[in-house]
Amino acid sequence: MQPLRTQNIGLSLIKEMELRGSKIPGVVSLAQGIPSFETNEHIKKAVIESLSLHNIGKYSLSPGLLELREMVEEVLRKDGISYDHNNEIIVTAGSIEGLAATLLAILEKGDEVIIPNPSYAAYAEAVRVAHGVPIFIDLHKNDNWALSIDALEKAKSAKTKAVIICQPNNPTSHIYPESTIRELAEWAKNNNYFLIFDEVYKDFNYTAKPIFHLAKDSKYRGNAVYLRSFSKAFSMTGWRVGYILACKELAREILKVHDSLVTCAPVISQYAAMAALRYQDELINDIMIQYRKRRKITLAHFNKLGDYFECTAPDSGYFFFPKILFKNSGSKKTAIEILEKAKVNIVPGIAFGPAGEGYLRFCFGRSEEDLNEAFTRLKNYFHNSL
Ligand SMILES: Cc1ncc(COP(=O)(O)O)c(C=O)c1O
Repeated sequence: MQPLRTQNIGLSLIKEMELRGSKIPGVVSLAQGIPSFETNEHIKKAVIESLSLHNIGKYSLSPGLLELREMVEEVLRKDGISYDHNNEIIVTAGSIEGLAATLLAILEKGDEVIIPNPSYAAYAEAVRVAHGVPIFIDLHKNDNWALSIDALEKAKSAKTKAVIICQPNNPTSHIYPESTIRELAEWAKNNNYFLIFDEVYKDFNYTAKPIFHLAKDSKYRGNAVYLRSFSKAFSMTGWRVGYILACKELAREILKVHDSLVTCAPVISQYAAMAALRYQDELINDIMIQYRKRRKITLAHFNKLGDYFECTAPDSGYFFFPKILFKNSGSKKTAIEILEKAKVNIVPGIAFGPAGEGYLRFCFGRSEEDLNEAFTRLKNYFHNSL
């Protein structure tokens, strides 16, 4: 066989851990970020009703159903964000397809994309898929994983094309403050770089401060792309639906790639997305009560494992990202050992870039029963084997 481009691309370590765990009977997984909740009944009911519509089994327009894009525009408008449903909003097959389409649209071979790390595991591979080169910069672990513009400045080169920012960040849960985002935006604009904001956890906020969205400031429209998703806040990971916001000129280019990748997002899922938006205040409110509870339960468990892990309660998302305090031979080996011996699946910090080494990620989006069982096993494992 001819050498393939994919020889330099790996399956993300998150998915690798899930695959590994699926082969071991009785494992409790806190690995991949999958909410345990069912998609809400309001959404399911609307989807059932949509089954009788004449267009349900047909392609939609490439950017998505008009009705859905109009709804997105309206929801955004209430948040003080102005994007036109006609040519600035594209409905995607999840945010990951939005990311791939964006990178494929903007990158030329060898272009560099700066990825502050630790950050979501799929970014580096998506950059490589688009023939780009991921350039990691370290977030400040001793300052709650903050981002410094100095580090970006040091990492830039003649080949830099874009920066990917996960706001709020997975796995650190850090919410970048408005001052950082503004500084970053100015820096990117002055250098003429694209800023790709992954906002899939935008509805998860356990702090008193609102999350700042640069999309509110029209000054940066030409440089920014925003990726949003129905997967997390609406427990819709399997429906594969999200959307992109970009200025008209950029959206037109991204649309060409989106069309060649998937034609359109699944139409049935676009109906599900419309129902999600219709009930969004109620649904997000209810689900956040559950996540707050799970976060508290998980924190109480970690407090009992204080000899082994150092962690703080997350500000956003549904992950704890504790530092490993016990002697270990790397986060990957540690996660595999915990999987094989304690039968609890978690993700090694190295999955999120080199700065994630020495950490492990635990998803508390899983059921309370799974959380309690996983930590009972972990306590037994640590007390008996270390
Ligand atoms: C930060 C982040 N971005 C993107 C994704 C992918 O989301 P989607 O289901 O919208 O493709 C995930 C999924 O875990 C994620 O954590």
